[in-house]
Amino acid sequence: MNLKGRSAIVTGGAGGLGSATVRHLVGSGMHVAIFDRDGDRAGELAKELGDPTIAVGGDVIDDEDVAAAIRAATSLGTLSLLVNVAGGGVGGGRTVARDGTPHEKTAFVMTMEMNAIGTFNTSRLTAAAMAGNEPDEEGERGVVVNTASIAGYEGQVGQVAYGSAKAAILGMTLPMARDLAPIGVRVCAIAPGTMGTPIMLSVSDRMKEGLVKDVVFPGRMGRPEEFALLVESIARNSYLNGENIRLDGALRFAPK
Ligand SMILES: NC(=O)c1ccc[n+]([C@@H]2O[C@H](COP(=O)([O-])OP(=O)(O)OC[C@H]3O[C@@H](n4cnc5c(N)ncnc54)[C@H](O)[C@@H]3O)[C@@H](O)[C@H]2O)c1
Repeated sequence: MNLKGRSAIVTGGAGGLGSATVRHLVGSGMHVAIFDRDGDRAGELAKELGDPTIAVGGDVIDDEDVAAAIRAATSLGTLSLLVNVAGGGVGGGRTVARDGTPHEKTAFVMTMEMNAIGTFNTSRLTAAAMAGNEPDEEGERGVVVNTASIAGYEGQVGQVAYGSAKAAILGMTLPMARDLAPIGVRVCAIAPGTMGTPIMLSVSDRMKEGLVKDVVFPGRMGRPEEFALLVESIARNSYLNGENIRLDGALRFAPK
């Protein structure tokens, strides 16, 4: 799909990977609604990037907030790309802690909500809006790029909630691509390994060494710009569909 002049929604657009994606898409000629529950940080980024962007403060779980993001993106151009980056962990821990305490059910539910349900919610509502677009010469009306994690394949000890939530995102890629094919919307997901976002770079050197020791090559964290570059590649390449793509320097998480 040709990106120039079209608009996108980036959820979690004020965060580490999200803000790099916003910058990259603007650099590629797109207009972007920066949708994040941290409306202040989204607003700061929109102020810095100017006209091609709008900040929308809101939660991906909330249908009204998502509708506001869709309206904002549509006001900037034909809404053709949704990048779901919002997500993360909310604590976690082992299924049964060493002291015998079972995992908090609410922590599991909240992690599912923040990642899997939020991603599904924005996808269903945005794809419905994309269905009204004029198709391009390939019959394409839009693209959805979701963000999972390699923890969705090989979650570590203490990641049962996060690993399950990211596995749900990996699991929705193919059925969603099949569902949305009749309206010309493609769906892919990116499963990042350890990415050098500001939070990850703020840890001690010793912790950083631990985080990259199993990365096969190159022996470093991924750059947020490398994530953004993959989003752009997926959006541009019309034959990429229904696929989960690891972005991890061949890292495979060890059990702990
Ligand atoms: N950084 C990594 O190493 C890494 C690795 C694998 C996967 N990921 C995934 O990539 C995504 C982004 O990670 P990041 O490191 O940039 O995190 P981050 O915390 O910097 O950014 C996440 C952003 O999402 C927003 N957000 C969270 N929940 C939201 C909600 N319900 N509604 C709207 N906005 C919400 C937050 O305010 C934040 O700005 C997450 O889904 C994370 O699980 C990150």
